[in-house]
Amino acid sequence: MAYQRVEIGPEQIAAQEAVCARLRAHFTAEGKTPLALVDTYGCQQNESDSERVRGYLAEMGFGFTQDEFAADIVVINTCAVREHAEMRVLGNVGALGHSKKAKPEQIICVCGCMVQQPHMADKLKHSYPIVNLVFGPHELWRFPELLERTLAGKKRVFAVTPGDGNIAEGAPRQRDGWPKAWLSVMYGCNNFCSYCVVPYVRGRERSRRPEDVVAEARSLVAAGYKDITLLGQNVNSYGKDLGAQTDFADLLRMVNAIPGKFRIRFMTSHPKDATEKLLRAMAECEKCTHHLHLPVQAGNDRVLREMNRGYTAAQYLEKVALARRYMPDLVLTTDIIVGFPGETDAEFDDTLRLVEQVGYDAMFTFLYSPRVGTRAASMPDPMTRQEKQRNFDRLLEVANRISAEKHASYVGRTLEVLVDGPSREAGMLSSRTMNGRLVHLPGGEDLIGQFVDVKITGSNTWALRGELVK
Ligand code: 5AD
Ligand code: SF4
Repeated sequence: MAYQRVEIGPEQIAAQEAVCARLRAHFTAEGKTPLALVDTYGCQQNESDSERVRGYLAEMGFGFTQDEFAADIVVINTCAVREHAEMRVLGNVGALGHSKKAKPEQIICVCGCMVQQPHMADKLKHSYPIVNLVFGPHELWRFPELLERTLAGKKRVFAVTPGDGNIAEGAPRQRDGWPKAWLSVMYGCNNFCSYCVVPYVRGRERSRRPEDVVAEARSLVAAGYKDITLLGQNVNSYGKDLGAQTDFADLLRMVNAIPGKFRIRFMTSHPKDATEKLLRAMAECEKCTHHLHLPVQAGNDRVLREMNRGYTAAQYLEKVALARRYMPDLVLTTDIIVGFPGETDAEFDDTLRLVEQVGYDAMFTFLYSPRVGTRAASMPDPMTRQEKQRNFDRLLEVANRISAEKHASYVGRTLEVLVDGPSREAGMLSSRTMNGRLVHLPGGEDLIGQFVDVKITGSNTWALRGELVK
């Protein structure tokens, strides 16, 4: 797949920042502090993109709010992976009619993967007149310019040109997850799994230069971040488009070599490209968490072939066994799709068997959702929604039982955790073990950002409970 690398240079970003300065004068006239609401759907890459939107908005002088009635600008960063997420977005965009009525000058922007699909951009154009600006993932770097155009003209702005995507370095970013940080290492996907819309909306695989990734990681460590997640749709393809001098395993070692106490995680690994070299690097890098998110999607070979996944169930299991040889304490998580077109009950049973055999620590399970333009959307799909739901419920039961058993085996152990924020329960903190398990513990917020030892005292399906060891 020939991809012509498109780099957005520092001078182009500087031009956007000059627009930010002009807009700042406009928005902060008469000493006002304008407010923005940025709402994010979907994956971590979207979270990371929203940090860039917020970075630009902050340069324009905006503060942030969760209240749509207080917001001068609303930006909704959307997801297209399943219909459910799209329905939620459309419902919430529609509901903004109320705030727009109360505040007619409010600017409503919708961006991200959903709008990169032409039929969805059309829908917003024709059925959602309250939306002022629509832009796809490839246009994010020039959000200020698009916003300025929206403000200047009478017409609504739609910037959703098709394309393979670009790499923009140096755009401002407002992070909000300390002590955790997202660090994109690559964008896009070339795999074209037959059910998936991502390659259509996020473009071709393109890797950031290793020196740019390492420089960003260094600055995160210097700024006190303790938990860095390297992001990519398929990190195991990292570097292929750069001539493969540095692959993902090499990159992991480079980030691991940065001095300081912090943890490194990464998402997502495609099983077909998870190499022994990567597993060895994970095992040997002392900062790398022993957690592998290895989406299997299905346990039946015919279904895997139809999904265009590029591995058989046996090959997947071999990879899991190899990973566990390198890391006996490995935490394994996965994604599974139930009800892929044509999947029979017997084929689904193969998924259940594989799940039992692997024993995942946690699973993300999804009912298949047809996506416009994908190959699977035109495959015969005779199973009823009810039958699919029944299989889904069976899978969830098995998944929950296994997770609960795995979690129960932690009780009594003492582990180091990183406290990463308050938990929803008053007086409780949320933290993560080295291999990524969630631990709730009582304690003051002064512990946030610290590594502490906890004794695990209880567990359930989703989390552990612990107490500080003095
Ligand atoms: N329907 C249901 N689930 C999907 N995923 C991707 N596309 C679809 C779809 N069309 C799931 C996969 C992927 C996760 C991010 O979302 O399991 O790994
Ligand atoms: Fe979608 Fe497959 Fe790419 Fe993951 S690897 S983003 S499931 S096409």
